[in-house]
Amino acid sequence: MGLTRKKITIVGAGFVGATAAHWAAIKELGDICLVDIIEGMPQGKALDLLESSPVEGFDAQIFGTNDYADTANSDVVIITAGLPRKPGMSRDDLLFKNAEIVKNVTEQVAKYSPNAYLIVVSNPLDAMVYVAYKVSGFPTNRVMGMAGVLDAARFRTFIAMELGVSVEDVTAFVLGGHGDTMVPLPRYSTVGGIPITDLLSPEKIEALVERTRNGGAEIVNLLKTGSAFFAPSASAVAMAEAIIKDKKRLMPCAAYCDKEYNVGGYFVGVPVILGGNGVERVVEIKLTPEEEAAFQKSVEAVKSLVSKLSL
Ligand code: NAI
Ligand code: 2OP
Repeated sequence: MGLTRKKITIVGAGFVGATAAHWAAIKELGDICLVDIIEGMPQGKALDLLESSPVEGFDAQIFGTNDYADTANSDVVIITAGLPRKPGMSRDDLLFKNAEIVKNVTEQVAKYSPNAYLIVVSNPLDAMVYVAYKVSGFPTNRVMGMAGVLDAARFRTFIAMELGVSVEDVTAFVLGGHGDTMVPLPRYSTVGGIPITDLLSPEKIEALVERTRNGGAEIVNLLKTGSAFFAPSASAVAMAEAIIKDKKRLMPCAAYCDKEYNVGGYFVGVPVILGGNGVERVVEIKLTPEEEAAFQKSVEAVKSLVSKLSL
């Protein structure tokens, strides 16, 4: 036969990681390895998920581990390891702590899976994907961050809710870094091909854009003890699926941009073609002067975070 399943490693078996394993399993994207530093936890979650397979009817090996040797020869690695922000912790504290975690994780991942595609989820996203890139030494097509798919999904959800239409018919476009400076683009956001600028008032659109920008905080404020995980994990798995199935989807991802959009060598959210070769190309679109200014502000925010790290 010679056919084998793809292997997907998910590092960090917390809320995002375990839920990503769930989505990947029910989509039968491949065999799944869950890794965490907490002993027993990834093993327990993996076994529990595996025991759902007869009920749901999916075939996949799912195993949990604390040992990176078990991750060897993964095709795709989703990195969700990290700390969430705790009371009294500054953004910079989180930056340095998670940079250390992502550095250690990436070293191990790159050692055992030198040909893998890396999808980084850990926050602050745009800086963490840069860490993974530097530490892995992988080519830029094999390192990317998940944020735009999530941010666009939030925008799509709010547009569909506002207009009372199916989410299936809503596409949305988000550029820039993940955070307060993200740049949703209403003129490229459509319902069945009709730009929302033809369907909603500028005030209404601005309200939806603002809600999208604060989408992460809205969930944190409701949950109080953690951050979003269903939509983030679904988004990371959609990226993994595009790669594994060579779908050549056009998705907003944190991708390496040098000359593209005049970014100068950083990872930032841009539309890319995602397929069997990872980030196959960055799609450049012409921005209006206002969009360009907002995008450059977002890029500056990413640069300032990265400049605090010694890489
Ligand atoms: P969580 O706390 O539930 O899970 C994180 C897991 O990482 C924990 O199980 C922890 O034990 C593990 N971990 C810590 N250090 C590790 C190491 N060195 N090696 C392996 N595992 C390690 O957090 P959650 O909710 O799953 O979020 C994970 C990360 O994803 C956070 O940084 C969060 O801010 C980020 N995130 C990013 C999003 C995005 O759009 N890019 C969206 C949602 C979350
Ligand atoms: C979010 O946007 C916390 O980055 C995470 O939900």
